[in-house]
Amino acid sequence: MSSVQVKAFFHSLTSTLSYIVYDAENLSAAIIDSALDYDGVSGRLATEFADTQLAFISAHQLNVRWILETHAHADHLSAAHYLKTSLMQSGQLSKVAIGENIAQVQRTFADIFDLNEQDISKTGAEFDCLLQDGQALPLGQFTIEVLSTPGHTPDGVSYLVDGNLFVGDTLFMPDAGTARCDFPGGSAKTLYQSITRIYALPDDTKIWMCHDYQPNQRELAYLTSVKESKAANIHVNQDTGIDSFVDIRTQRDNTLAAPKLLYPSLQVNIKAGALPEKSASGKSFIKIPIFNAY
Ligand SMILES: [Fe+2]
Repeated sequence: MSSVQVKAFFHSLTSTLSYIVYDAENLSAAIIDSALDYDGVSGRLATEFADTQLAFISAHQLNVRWILETHAHADHLSAAHYLKTSLMQSGQLSKVAIGENIAQVQRTFADIFDLNEQDISKTGAEFDCLLQDGQALPLGQFTIEVLSTPGHTPDGVSYLVDGNLFVGDTLFMPDAGTARCDFPGGSAKTLYQSITRIYALPDDTKIWMCHDYQPNQRELAYLTSVKESKAANIHVNQDTGIDSFVDIRTQRDNTLAAPKLLYPSLQVNIKAGALPEKSASGKSFIKIPIFNAY
């Protein structure tokens, strides 16, 4: 049996890494964390990045079984709905899946955006599959194992396939540490517990990032291992205690501004990548709430 194949795609607009993971013999594939090209100032939306992935799928004659999200992202708009509908037009039935705690995220943001029951289910029903910890998804001769890894967000999951772990925003490259835990339902303590779980995997497990912000203008990097992260992660290595991590994480979160695409991203991503319903004139709008109004 050959190894599972991993093809990385870098979305430079949002510093996001998306992956196509596939069985080169059986041609079954999964797409993890894809993105739309959205300009928040002009409102222009494009699909160039996702189209590059579709071209790769077509060139390799892959059958996309799964369109996976590691969580409801707050920094880019998911291309899941666009990919699913585009693949359907070429006869491929793909399932969009996310961690089951997306229902909690939907409830939180339904309140923030004043969404009613026509707008959002609050049960995760917009997704084809709600994933539980330990669930196994078939991918040709391989299995994608779901690991619940909350902390950055409540719905965070990681995907383990043939020694490759796609961690979403659970870990960053060792020189960048970890992702913020100050979104609604986030918890540094919970993230530490999720990372402890990842660090219990075999040392040679490959860890693929969902983001790389290239600290100190270094080259793009998106692959590390359990061994390297345990040895060198600047926020949580094998000797870091939970209290120390929570202190570091909380101090850093207090300095961070809201992500530029926070509201557009969440409005689309809690609906599995579908755009807001069109108005009578055929336009879609993004809501931006105002806080502390006078
Ligand atoms: Fe995130």
